[in-house]
Amino acid sequence: MNFPKKVIESVASDFSKKRSDRDALRLRRLKEIYSLCPEIKDIDASLSRVSKEIAEATFTYKSNIRERIESIKNNNLALQERRASLLCNLGFDRDYTDPPYECEICNDTGYDGFHLCACHRRALVDKMLDCTGFGNLIKAQSFESFDPSVFETEEQRKRASAIRTVLEAYADEFTHSSDSLLLVGGTGLGKTHLSSSIARRVIEKGYNVVYESAESIFREIGREIFRSDFSEKDPEYYRFFDCDLLIIDDLGSEMITPSSVSYLYNIINTRLNKGLPMIISTNNSSEELLRKYDERIASRLFGEFVIHLFMGNDQRRKKLGKK
Ligand SMILES: Nc1ncnc2c1ncn2[C@@H]1O[C@H](COP(=O)(O)OP(=O)(O)O)[C@@H](O)[C@H]1O
Ligand SMILES: [Mg+2]
Ligand SMILES: [Zn+2]
Repeated sequence: MNFPKKVIESVASDFSKKRSDRDALRLRRLKEIYSLCPEIKDIDASLSRVSKEIAEATFTYKSNIRERIESIKNNNLALQERRASLLCNLGFDRDYTDPPYECEICNDTGYDGFHLCACHRRALVDKMLDCTGFGNLIKAQSFESFDPSVFETEEQRKRASAIRTVLEAYADEFTHSSDSLLLVGGTGLGKTHLSSSIARRVIEKGYNVVYESAESIFREIGREIFRSDFSEKDPEYYRFFDCDLLIIDDLGSEMITPSSVSYLYNIINTRLNKGLPMIISTNNSSEELLRKYDERIASRLFGEFVIHLFMGNDQRRKKLGKK
């Protein structure tokens, strides 16, 4: 997994909190039970000596070791049964002082032997989704919920279905050598829907994905560049240049200034040189992009990105009940 340090650290601290919360609960319950029934305290003291007794038996007795260990074990089982029945008489479950772990596979350590436990992987992906830059609305968008039949004509439906198939395969097969994509088409045709679906799938594969609107990327870069004379750049700034997949949504809808043009060029150039893929969506035509940005950018977008054209009727307007 190639997630940012802050994601990994934050999940590690969630796991350690989970364990210390459980330990604290266990101690509180033991204290409660010992005060209600001192015999259980004595039993626990005896139980805690069992492994020492077995070790002693192994090293001290030359003969009858087997019988000796058998008798320690039987005594141990009897103590456990006695403990359970005392707890039961008090009205508690036999596991009351041994509260369950959230994950029984790794006992909330996050590691199953030497490997990342599935629960740890899930937690990392969830945290990464939170950090990626899309809000709750977009989290609900997936390849499964993208329905080509919502479009009006047969041709549009076929195209939508083909685009979904190609983009889903792109997400499933994503690596650093994947192409960069340019998703072009009018408003409300599912560009954001499908690019957030890609983001989610690629994150689930363990990649570090950053997803932002062009507007907020340029705003953030502008802020960092502006303060760079005085202080170190925020490490977050580098994520646009370093992440495994950068998704820039709605290019062309932001306020275009000479500096935003140069930020965009810098990002595209740096990433193409490093071989790191990007997905850019826009509802501008090639002429509009050429007019708003410059020749250098347009030639990279149209020369080096794989272009997918979206067609159809605006689904956002349809949802709002407009014709
Ligand atoms: N084929 C589709 N099936 C289901 N919902 C869709 C489809 N296309 C678009 N939508 C929904 O319509 C709305 C607008 O789509 P969006 O992806 O934001 O369009 P765009 O980014 O192309 O402007 C979103 O709520 C999206 O989930
Ligand atoms: Mg959009
Ligand atoms: Zn686990």
